[in-house]
Amino acid sequence: ARIADLDVPVGQGGEVQQTAGGDVPVLTTQQGIPVSDDQNSLKVGPRGPTLLEDFHFREKMFHFDHERIPERVVHARGFGAHGYFEMTESLADLSHADVFQRVGEKTPAFVRFSTVAGNKGSPDLARDVRGFAVKLYTQEGNWDIVGNNIPVFFIQDAIKFPDLIHAAKQEPDRGFPQAQTAHDNFWDFISLTPESMHMIMWIMSDRTIPRSLRFIEGFGVHTFRLVNAEGKSSFVKFHWKPKLGLQSVAWNEAVKLNGADPDFHRRDLWASIQAGDFPEWEFGVQVFDEEFAKSFDFDVLDATKLIPEELVPVRVVGRLVLDRVVDNFFAETEQVAFCTSNVVPGIDFTNDPLLQGRNFSYLDTQLKRLGGPNFTHIPINAPKVPVRNFQQDGHMAMHNPKGRVNYEPNGWGGAAGGPRQTPRGYRSFPAEEAGPKLRIRAESFADHYSQARQFFVSQTPVEQTHIGDALVFELSKVETPAIRARIVAHLRNIDETLAQTVAKGLGLKDVPEPATAARPTRQDLPQ
Ligand code: HEM
Repeated sequence: ARIADLDVPVGQGGEVQQTAGGDVPVLTTQQGIPVSDDQNSLKVGPRGPTLLEDFHFREKMFHFDHERIPERVVHARGFGAHGYFEMTESLADLSHADVFQRVGEKTPAFVRFSTVAGNKGSPDLARDVRGFAVKLYTQEGNWDIVGNNIPVFFIQDAIKFPDLIHAAKQEPDRGFPQAQTAHDNFWDFISLTPESMHMIMWIMSDRTIPRSLRFIEGFGVHTFRLVNAEGKSSFVKFHWKPKLGLQSVAWNEAVKLNGADPDFHRRDLWASIQAGDFPEWEFGVQVFDEEFAKSFDFDVLDATKLIPEELVPVRVVGRLVLDRVVDNFFAETEQVAFCTSNVVPGIDFTNDPLLQGRNFSYLDTQLKRLGGPNFTHIPINAPKVPVRNFQQDGHMAMHNPKGRVNYEPNGWGGAAGGPRQTPRGYRSFPAEEAGPKLRIRAESFADHYSQARQFFVSQTPVEQTHIGDALVFELSKVETPAIRARIVAHLRNIDETLAQTVAKGLGLKDVPEPATAARPTRQDLPQ
């Protein structure tokens, strides 16, 4: 028998029997053994038991059984694309990073956009921060800018991150909500974390429901350092500005899109790149020195604050273009591993306590997510420069050192001695550090409301209405009245009209007193 329109023979059970030949390759097992029948398992007679001896069946099923790896603990849902980065103006005066030196030279890039709170299968139009993680395969190794589409963050110290994420993800007893901020645990945590108020203003704004990933900004968030050839350090904030500008949808559009096409953002990015309509971002830096940093009335090490662009304009020095979709979603988008501590010579950290914690967290989680210490051997993570060191073994080791030598110093001369260190290698900026060891938050981190207010008043009346509507909508889903009141108490320190609008929208009988302390205790807040 044959299936007529395909003109392929079928077996006794009607199973399709497509065979190799001509330019059709032979199907093999993982061991390279040619397969004669991929439609039927090995049995004792036509109706007999399946044989344990069937190594082809067992291998195929075992591999399938192990297809899933843990999703990312945050930013689980993402979509990536390849492209290139190019300097339009040299930054050689400020940093000796190789990637900044030559105008017009293209550096390969991979970018993964993501939502933060939802699981891997959650909808694209959730009201959420968008991750904007960039890997630049520079000639001095990989540099990752693991950023977001919002320039500030919820918390000041990395030790609060597990709490923030536990509160933001689905509640542990009921497993919902997956991807929305509208729930008691999230707002309970926020109401007791005044440092999150600036971020909350951004979260409740239209920024968190972008029209497409092509219309979002990106920010490195933390203050980093640039170090030049003379060893001089400058502070820097990194920016990505979309060539298409910023666009968002309205909340009711987001809700409809999530129902009609939960893949709306990834489909849009895929389709635009496939159509040759390549999304592009300007790369900008805000650069300032230590003296200038001291003139701000906030701390540049505090990730809940931004550097106003009026004070330090963004200098556009490069561009990022995404021009190629992935060949395989799992191999590239799922297995890519970004890390804030992937920096190249000429770029360095600051003491931002959130950044310092992130530098630990990413590698640690990736050891588990990607199954051991050799995930840099996966092509999407591998630098595009030679990697030579004496690291060896571990799960799936693919690039063990060649030859006898696997240590140094060693007395085997020349090439037989293997790779050696170089004065041109990465050197940390020798920042002066001294002080008592304390678990403490600097006083300079204490103002939680000024920039929240500045953001709110900088919005157009329509945008301000959207923020008010979003707060009323989200808080109306909160079942515990005290949590709603605590948020309104904070809003009173941000904008009185906004606080009154939200209180009215929520039908609060009594508008609570403004939250008193800069960092209130539970007792200071409405119970
Ligand atoms: C992903 C930790 C703050 C942006 C992740 C992952 C972890 C993590 C564990 C999953 C990584 C993986 O499985 O590969 C933390 C910690 C933070 C923090 C501990 C604070 C202490 C931030 C901030 C930003 C950010 C402030 C933005 C500036 C991202 C992005 C991803 C991510 C974009 C997704 C990377 C990808 O696409 O694979 N984070 N994060 N995170 N984080 Fe953070």
